Amino acid sequence: MTAAADMLKARLAGLSPRYGIVLGSGLGSLVEAVADPVRSPIRIFRAFRSAPYRDMPASWLQGKIGGVPVIVLSGRVHFYERGDANAMRTPIETLKALGVETLILTNSAGSLREDLPPGSVMQITDHINFSGTSPLIGVDSDDRFVGLTSAYDPALAERMRAAAIKLDIPLGSGVYMWFSGPNFETPAEIRMARILGADAVGMSTVPEVILARFFGLKVAAASVITNFRRGHDRRRTQPS
Ligand code: HPA
Repeated sequence: MTAAADMLKARLAGLSPRYGIVLGSGLGSLVEAVADPVRSPIRIFRAFRSAPYRDMPASWLQGKIGGVPVIVLSGRVHFYERGDANAMRTPIETLKALGVETLILTNSAGSLREDLPPGSVMQITDHINFSGTSPLIGVDSDDRFVGLTSAYDPALAERMRAAAIKLDIPLGSGVYMWFSGPNFETPAEIRMARILGADAVGMSTVPEVILARFFGLKVAAASVITNFRRGHDRRRTQPS
């Protein structure tokens, strides 16, 4: 177990969270839904110690949502920060060490589909890794050959869909394409992404999905759509 896991385990106080949640940009206010919150310093993870994370309101929170024990990681480290696809490895490994079985990942993304306008939510059913890298490069065992056929757990996806129907929240679904960032896409890249089968593009989540599967966690993921084909249509390229 990592030193961070030892420290965080001692703070669980009998709670056995099976669910971990990563909150993407703009979704941080969900921490307000966490009952009996116990906040731990996120800077126990080295990746969160460097700029710009020193000053960002990232947090590691344990508590309950709807009576269910959860650990919420609000804020993430992106690949584009330092070119490190492994930046989220220790936090995800720590969730696993604390007994978490399911990781729910959220992000903001750019839509490539007219029927997924800004403000809509897209359940991620699959991804395309367009970054050319993987967090598992350099892992020194055959465990690195992780299968990603059902990376986004079908049973969890069904539960997410059922919950959305019950709560009357429109939920699209589609394929998320990971660009390294931090620049946005060109019009040609946006056209390519659509041709290759993507429904949304973004700069996160995929390395976390790969790491989660490496550590044997089940994954569910959703994108909040913040913009439409940013590189494509000049009238819609203003920063939001
Ligand atoms: N492209 C890449 N990442 C993003 C976008 C986008 O249009 N919107 C939000 N994250």
